[in-house]
Amino acid sequence: MKSIGWLTRLMLAYWPRILLALFLSVLTITSHIGLMAASAYLLARAALHPPILDLMVTIVGVRFFGLSRAVFRYLERYLSHDVTFRVLSQIRVKFYEQIEPLAPARLGGLRSEDLLSRIVADVETQQNFYLRVFAPPIAAFFVLIGYGIFLANYDIRLSYILAACFVIAGVIVPWLVKRLGQGIGAQIIFLKAHLNTQVADGLLGMTELLSYHQVGDHLIKFRETNDELIECERKITKLAAFSAALTGLIANLGMWLILVLGILLVEKGRLNGVNLGMLALGTLSSFEAVFPLALVPHHLEQNLVSADRLLDLMKPEETKDGRDRKKHDYNRENDKIRHEDSREHEDSSKNEDSRENPGKLIPRADNLKLSFQEVSFRYEKTEPWVLKDVSFTIPQGSKVAIVGSSGVGKTSIINLILRFWDCEKGEISLGDHSLPEYDIEELRRIIGVVTQKTYLFNATIKENLLLAKPSATNQELMDTARQAKLHEFITSLPNGYDSYIGEGGFKLSGGQRQRLAIARVLLKNAPILILDEAAAGLDSITESEVLNEVYRLMEGRTTILITHNFSGLEIMDEILLLKEGRIIERGTHAELLQHEGAYWELWKRDRFIN
Ligand code: GTP
Ligand code: MG
Repeated sequence: MKSIGWLTRLMLAYWPRILLALFLSVLTITSHIGLMAASAYLLARAALHPPILDLMVTIVGVRFFGLSRAVFRYLERYLSHDVTFRVLSQIRVKFYEQIEPLAPARLGGLRSEDLLSRIVADVETQQNFYLRVFAPPIAAFFVLIGYGIFLANYDIRLSYILAACFVIAGVIVPWLVKRLGQGIGAQIIFLKAHLNTQVADGLLGMTELLSYHQVGDHLIKFRETNDELIECERKITKLAAFSAALTGLIANLGMWLILVLGILLVEKGRLNGVNLGMLALGTLSSFEAVFPLALVPHHLEQNLVSADRLLDLMKPEETKDGRDRKKHDYNRENDKIRHEDSREHEDSSKNEDSRENPGKLIPRADNLKLSFQEVSFRYEKTEPWVLKDVSFTIPQGSKVAIVGSSGVGKTSIINLILRFWDCEKGEISLGDHSLPEYDIEELRRIIGVVTQKTYLFNATIKENLLLAKPSATNQELMDTARQAKLHEFITSLPNGYDSYIGEGGFKLSGGQRQRLAIARVLLKNAPILILDEAAAGLDSITESEVLNEVYRLMEGRTTILITHNFSGLEIMDEILLLKEGRIIERGTHAELLQHEGAYWELWKRDRFIN
């Protein structure tokens, strides 16, 4: 239900337009009623052969209503769509603003296709909210009141009949449709999202599907989802047809009842027979207001499900009910932190005084000691601990290597330092303050990272490099590319630095991608350096070349190096050996070898293999 409040709030920001659109909507239906009623009245009067002048007013009325209906309809559609698209664009902007600071931590669990489907399809579904959910009942209500008063002028019982038929067609029929179509709206949304995912999966995983002979199976699954979706759409179409027929039946019944009562009134001399046709046809046309009501529950259901899917990703603050959340709700606490960050981001500037939230700190270049104090961390409350009581300190300018087998939590340490996640127990601090006290943008500004999963954009090499330093000159770009052993390759391409590298950089080899990432870090020139398997994927000669470059890069910087490669670790000030989320050994390379423990074992094995 919170999503209704959210949607309504977004919409009501445009209340003057909405009021006008509603007013025009009522006027359109009124014109329709007027057109039919005036026409019927004209025919009835004309049959009595009155002087033509007597008919003039009615003739003008017919013309007026005929024209005004079209004009009002046009203006109403124009305004209501204007409001709708404004709301949609607001939702898109808000959604983007909200999820951007979450990346990659919270979005990690979401498929990119699912995200796309939320951004595109779920946002699009919201266009029905005003047009098909919000406006029709209000317009119908005012038409009922207006036309009801008109009928009451002749006899109050006519108004009762109208009201009864409106209630049956406008409340009971929609209720019936809701009962019969329960859950279909939601199912359609989910099936569409699922279908999107399957299509994207099929396309992205084409190589795997082909090589494992799974194309047929994939197609079958795709067709199954598609058939299910078609089945749901069919049900809804049937239901729509059924409800339209039912509403039509009630409308005609209403007209007949009014006609029969009218005839009785004429017989008793309480109604002029000339008015009979007018009342009957007017009633029939007033049902124009009721026809859209049958599908209101269906559209509402779709709106709610899609809005929930959107809100799922947004912050609690956005939904206004996050303020009383529990203090120790870890994920939500994270949300709050990120929300504050995103607000600050809007006016992030180097000048501390101009900041929206002056309470947040900017890291000081001369005080970058990084320390973990008994840090424990897990990704979800239901999942096992990934890091347990991890403590270490990296004095400014010193170099620490983290080694350990796959899955022991090395990358997780990096995720915590970059504040993609926050630790649940213990404290991570930089200089004299804990990480959350710093402005997140400023914090990330001083850290250069090469991750295991480098993401490259579908843009040119130059643009991918400029990401790290938008102001870099061509000369700078080339110097860095040379250092990362990438320059020769780039110049061998027909378009050189302006070559497109494709989606996710697929036109580059794994090693080239990694070197591009290293070049980016070189450009960023940050005082803290994090290298997560930076040279992985390179052949051993290039690897050592690149690593030499990397080691040179480490000079004077606080460095965290995660590696599987034991060569070169002699220059590290400390090596941490991680096992199952705990640091089991620490010391310099020489000390650890002397100790002849687990590190020594690994080192021996590594030397044996190489
Ligand atoms: P390698 O990169 O393979 O050498 O491993 P690592 O030491 O870097 O491991 P990492 O820190 O990435 O992962 C430690 C544990 O956390 C593993 O059991 C992962 O399954 C889990 N993990 C990593 N990332 C996520 C995440 O985004 N969400 C969740 N729920 N679990 C994660
Ligand atoms: Mg890792």
